[in-house]
Amino acid sequence: MVFSMSFPMVLLLIAFAPIFCFSHKIKGGGGGYVLHPQFYDYSCPRAQQIVKSVVAKAVAKEARMAASLLRLHFHDCFVKGCDASLLLDTSGSIISEKQSNPNRNSVRGFNVIDDIKSALEKECPQTVSCADILALAARDSTVLAGGPSWEVPLGRRDSRGASLSGSNQNIPAPNNTFQTILTKFKLKGLNVVDLVALSGSHTIGNARCTSFKQRLYNQSGNRQPDYSLHQTYANQLRTRCPRSGGDQNLFVMDLVSPTKFDNFYYKNILASKGLFNSDQVLLTKSEASMELVKKYAENNELFFEQFAKSIIKMGNISPLTGKKGEIRKNCRRINTHYVLHPQFYDHSCPRAQEIVKSVVAKAVAKEARMAASLLRLHFHDCFVKKQSNPNRNSVRGFNVIDDIKSALEKECPQTVSCADILALAARDSTVLAGGPSWEVPLGRRDSRGASLSGSNQNIPAPNNTFQTILTKFKLKGLNVVDLVALSGSHTIGNARCTSFKQRLYNQSGNGQPDYSLHQTYASQLRTRCPRSGGDQNLFVMDLVSPTKFDNFYYKNILASRGLFNSDQVLLTKSEASMELVKKYAENNELFFEQFAKSIVKMGNISPLTGKKGEIRKNCRRLNTN
Ligand SMILES: *[C@@H]1O[C@H](CO)[C@@H](O)[C@H](O)[C@H]1NC(C)=O
Ligand SMILES: *[C@@H]1O[C@H](CO)[C@@H](O)[C@H](O)[C@H]1NC(C)=O
Ligand SMILES: *[C@@H]1O[C@H](CO)[C@@H](O)[C@H](O)[C@H]1NC(C)=O
Ligand SMILES: *[C@@H]1O[C@H](CO)[C@@H](O)[C@H](O)[C@H]1NC(C)=O
Repeated sequence: MVFSMSFPMVLLLIAFAPIFCFSHKIKGGGGGYVLHPQFYDYSCPRAQQIVKSVVAKAVAKEARMAASLLRLHFHDCFVKGCDASLLLDTSGSIISEKQSNPNRNSVRGFNVIDDIKSALEKECPQTVSCADILALAARDSTVLAGGPSWEVPLGRRDSRGASLSGSNQNIPAPNNTFQTILTKFKLKGLNVVDLVALSGSHTIGNARCTSFKQRLYNQSGNRQPDYSLHQTYANQLRTRCPRSGGDQNLFVMDLVSPTKFDNFYYKNILASKGLFNSDQVLLTKSEASMELVKKYAENNELFFEQFAKSIIKMGNISPLTGKKGEIRKNCRRINTHYVLHPQFYDHSCPRAQEIVKSVVAKAVAKEARMAASLLRLHFHDCFVKKQSNPNRNSVRGFNVIDDIKSALEKECPQTVSCADILALAARDSTVLAGGPSWEVPLGRRDSRGASLSGSNQNIPAPNNTFQTILTKFKLKGLNVVDLVALSGSHTIGNARCTSFKQRLYNQSGNGQPDYSLHQTYASQLRTRCPRSGGDQNLFVMDLVSPTKFDNFYYKNILASRGLFNSDQVLLTKSEASMELVKKYAENNELFFEQFAKSIVKMGNISPLTGKKGEIRKNCRRLNTN
């Protein structure tokens, strides 16, 4: 009955096969990413060559290393997928899988993986994952031992965690029953064929006495050995593995050809010379696996073919791809990600925020305008890296920053960065002017350079078009909501005539003013800003409440009294920004809420963290190193 499938039916299946395969590839397991052998062809063309040469050296030095490296890939894939979780050392919240029962005192080869990783980091930094290194090293080890070769699908990424319990539970143990082992394989999407073929990796390598001693002396708890073991072989094993002690002694797994990858593993099983209980049960506990053991014992080619197929299948166990996980720089630890956070100075300089606040408060009490000046410094700092067009003759407040820095250097030398001082001073200035408060994420470090061209190009200009301004925001990861909310900082501060004079006399180069400006307001502006001269004269940006942080900025725009061209276009050049201007004009709370969110977002624009940059001793100069 089994073979009674009709001839047309077979044709039908063959006809559909390519389509099925094709659609399967495209879907790629749901994630959209499919491992493929060409993954590093452009990003690291010599990757495979490098892995191979390091593995070759290691195996030449010690033949046993081939089996050790093959085992690493296997023990990695069975726990959380092939994600190099096995390679992580214990650190922080990570408990290393190297301490699990299947791995303790037995996993090895980590130095070889480290050597491969160092070589790859030199060639193409942070490009080739540790998980892919394991997969490649397994293939190269197999080939070096005389086994089959295969193309290794690549593109795995590395985990940011490990699972000790997963390692204890998921990896098949040498004394597990056949059913337990098969179940562990099935949980990973592998079947009995994969089980028998992959067990063939026991054709190379050594095992510790502890893994099979039970069979020699006390197989079922009744002080009797496993009589299914060949007598002479059992005696050989007992010589090396006494009843008590010697648990870490080693014995080769394939007595006939211990360092050669071949099908003697299966021949040994047929001769009752399978070393582990889990080897022998392949013959005795399932008809399907028995048939396979016999086939592979007979036909080395068939074993090699299936081994290659099954190990590729195993290498596909839930890999991390795309944006999941990371590419570790060092296979033994996860990469350090530095994230700004408000508690950054809690231990290193607990009074830092208090000190900034008190110096800012004194400065603003002396001159209300200083609040706007300090707020502007943070903004201009985040958009670039002091003498550029947007800043010449207009940025101010540096003396206040110097005062803050001196106070902080006294309290905790070279601890608080100038960039964080700017971020804190901006918040404190906003609060002092009556605006919202927010927790300032901290931990920025100071640059060891400046960019005059960046300052000229990146900071939005008062006469930029709406599109230009929005583009400049977008280049910094900010959107139209951030643009409209952050423009609200023009609710305080003064502007020089030069920033808006164009609107008063010659808006479009035809000698005509900007008629969208409210007439009475325009006349007031002209009084202060004559057609010629007076470019540095100041005018308040919010005529209604010039030193109070509130939403009059938006109300002014709605009344055609936005001072800058860049203010008025928020109403006239985009529906999205128009809606936001109206919302914030109506609802002060909403404005405050969004302003706080957007300025925190702005404060996160590519900060220097970790070991990048420095903590300047004097905000005006680089430290002399
Ligand atoms: C298998 O071996 C381990 C340690 O080698 C032991 O703790 C466990 O009890 C054994 N399991 C069985 C079913 O014999
Ligand atoms: C044999 O195994 C059983 C059950 O695992 C144990 O209780 C007993 O002490 C063992 N006997 C010897 C001699 O090791
Ligand atoms: C904007 O103003 C600057 C100087 O204030 C001027 O050089 C530039 O030509 C103006 N740009 C436009 C588009 O009017
Ligand atoms: C107005 O602007 C245009 C172009 O920017 C310039 O050529 C012209 O001389 C200006 N006219 C006056 C009266 O300033």
